[in-house]
Amino acid sequence: MADSMENKAGHNYYLDVPPASEVFFLKGMDHVDWGMKNRLARMFNPKSGHTVMLAFDHGYIMGSTAGLERIDIVIPPLAGHVDVLMGTRGALRAAVPPTLDKAVALRCSAGSSVLDEDMSHEVIGVNIEDAIRMNASCMAIQTFIGAPGEKTSIQNLCNTIDAGNRYGIPTLGVIAVGKEMERTTKYFLLATRMVAEFGAQIIKTYYCDEFEKITSACPVPIVIAGGKKLPENEALTLCFRAIREGAAGVDMGRNIFQSENPRAMVKAVAKIVHENASDKEAYDFYLSIKK
Ligand code: R5P
Repeated sequence: MADSMENKAGHNYYLDVPPASEVFFLKGMDHVDWGMKNRLARMFNPKSGHTVMLAFDHGYIMGSTAGLERIDIVIPPLAGHVDVLMGTRGALRAAVPPTLDKAVALRCSAGSSVLDEDMSHEVIGVNIEDAIRMNASCMAIQTFIGAPGEKTSIQNLCNTIDAGNRYGIPTLGVIAVGKEMERTTKYFLLATRMVAEFGAQIIKTYYCDEFEKITSACPVPIVIAGGKKLPENEALTLCFRAIREGAAGVDMGRNIFQSENPRAMVKAVAKIVHENASDKEAYDFYLSIKK
């Protein structure tokens, strides 16, 4: 064997070329492992540095949410226009074909329903083995900063981050807002920074005033949740502002699947997120696409 290796003439060791090296394109992620970077690069488009995540995990607290009565009919046609599908393992296994080959943000926290006055006491509902089995690109855990279940939710987050670090799977720390919880800049500054310092590799939060302060003070990428359904032009403006003010993407649900034209809406959102379109350009684009 050793002799046969030498039979090939013309080795080129590129002695004058320095070894390839690159700065990873997502902030705060230079020192994570190769496998984690690879998963992040599946979720965030390396060219734009941004992501469009389609959230349809609402059933885990809300049951059959308007627009998501039939996930198998609603979600697959939209998948081609997004970077990431965010769902529960139950919905993914039962209603989303694995052949879609999309990055998956797996909802891994579980808790009580919207009928509960205080929904802040969640548990880890999916263990690391099942997250690996689902080929999760990241695991999503809700944190309830300032709520009665704060400590438990932080424990859930930290345990998941530890498990994810063992196998190179990033954790998406979701900042929860409950009925009684604040939605102020001060609150989101506190909550996003805490969750990043606990070690979450991605943070999901809500858009708020002075959002650039939140993205600036948070050392890892932030994606925004869409929240309750808005008129399409307003949802696109929300998306535009968040990206302009430093968000690395959106994780949007109701403003897409409850839209009059979900396919047009998801494409318009992607125009802003990946192509730097303005909200007006994106809305004109939305209106130009037939149902
Ligand atoms: C919260 O974590 C929910 O489960 C959703 O993933 C999230 O709220 C995003 O969906 P929406 O854009 O409908 O708020």
